[in-house]
Amino acid sequence: MNNLPFALPDIGDDEINEVVETLKSGWITTGPKTKVFEEQFAEYIGSKNALAVNSATAGLHLALEAVGVQRGDKVITSSYTFTATAEVIRYFDADPVFCDIDKDTYNIDCEKLSKLCDKLCNEFPGKVKAIMPVHFAGQACDMNKIMLIAKKHNLYVIEDAAHALPATYDKKKIGTIGDITVFSFYATKTITTAEGGMITTDNADFARRMSVMRLHGFSRDAWDRYSSVKAPWYYEVIAPGYKYNMTDIAASLGIHQLKKCGLFYEKRLKIAQMYDQAFENEEKIIVPYKGKKDDIHSYHLYVIKVPQEMRDEFIIKMKEKGVGCSVHFIPLHIQPYYKDKYAYKEHDFPIAYENFLCSVSLPIYTKMTDSDTNRVIDAAKSVIS
Ligand SMILES: Cc1ncc(COP(=O)(O)O)c(C=O)c1O
Repeated sequence: MNNLPFALPDIGDDEINEVVETLKSGWITTGPKTKVFEEQFAEYIGSKNALAVNSATAGLHLALEAVGVQRGDKVITSSYTFTATAEVIRYFDADPVFCDIDKDTYNIDCEKLSKLCDKLCNEFPGKVKAIMPVHFAGQACDMNKIMLIAKKHNLYVIEDAAHALPATYDKKKIGTIGDITVFSFYATKTITTAEGGMITTDNADFARRMSVMRLHGFSRDAWDRYSSVKAPWYYEVIAPGYKYNMTDIAASLGIHQLKKCGLFYEKRLKIAQMYDQAFENEEKIIVPYKGKKDDIHSYHLYVIKVPQEMRDEFIIKMKEKGVGCSVHFIPLHIQPYYKDKYAYKEHDFPIAYENFLCSVSLPIYTKMTDSDTNRVIDAAKSVIS
């Protein structure tokens, strides 16, 4: 029997034809296709601005730059995330301050966050700049609480929504709540452009700044303001920006992936429901927490918990049965760089650490058939017993 990979992109003829058309058009980097993708994304989310970039990592970096993070500042995020969330804080020589997570949702624990903000803002007045909640696996963080905490301390909220398209919170689309939100279109994400990301914000100043900084700090504003003649060759460099723009080749994929976002979500949801039902009575498997019925969990990941002492063997045995599994995430506070730099111990964030030890991500992607899903279920049941 063939191996069932952990993740696979779902690229159809529409995407392929659009990419070919772009390649033949003579305009392959940022141009008309990227603009269309941005407009359609902004409309889909219901956000005033959408800015396409070449990765979510780039988007998070631009977001922190736009809100004015500087050397020595502090930005709060959860330890239970991918390294990109925290590395962008270090780009500024600012410090990521980790907060523990909720045991069930794996999202930032808002009670601990509230206490942490009180303490940090008191100890380092003016230095704490932002909170970066991570919508783990595609389930929204408790945004009402986070926005209230941020308001109390005058902090920006930059949402890491790499997993969270098309997730909702209180019936509001993720991408419309915090100051800035960043989505990922990496190959395994809920829609893909191979590599890519999108930033949404309703704040015109942030949008302008990120738009300038994503392409070398180029600005045409001065010329457009003072000259009646449009000179296409003219630009001014107003800051040492970055090279974070999306290509039209990537946007060609994105335009069609976005059209399928709802359909893709339905497919992921169906797999999640099949897993939920199948493992309901399995004593040794805990299925993911389900939030409010009205809210959408985008199920980028389906993370189960198994007994700690069985976790590593479980993954090996699943592989022997041809089923690819993974672990999301190894908490950042136990990664050598952060552990050494900030002298963290495993149990500084006990829930993050304990959840990590028993978590397994099962395959969940749109190309899986019912029989693939049943294969994973049968394999998991037999391995666990
Ligand atoms: C939580 C989280 N944030 C950020 C990223 C970075 O996304 P990208 O690969 O598009 O830069 C990822 C990627 O897996 C992620 O899981």
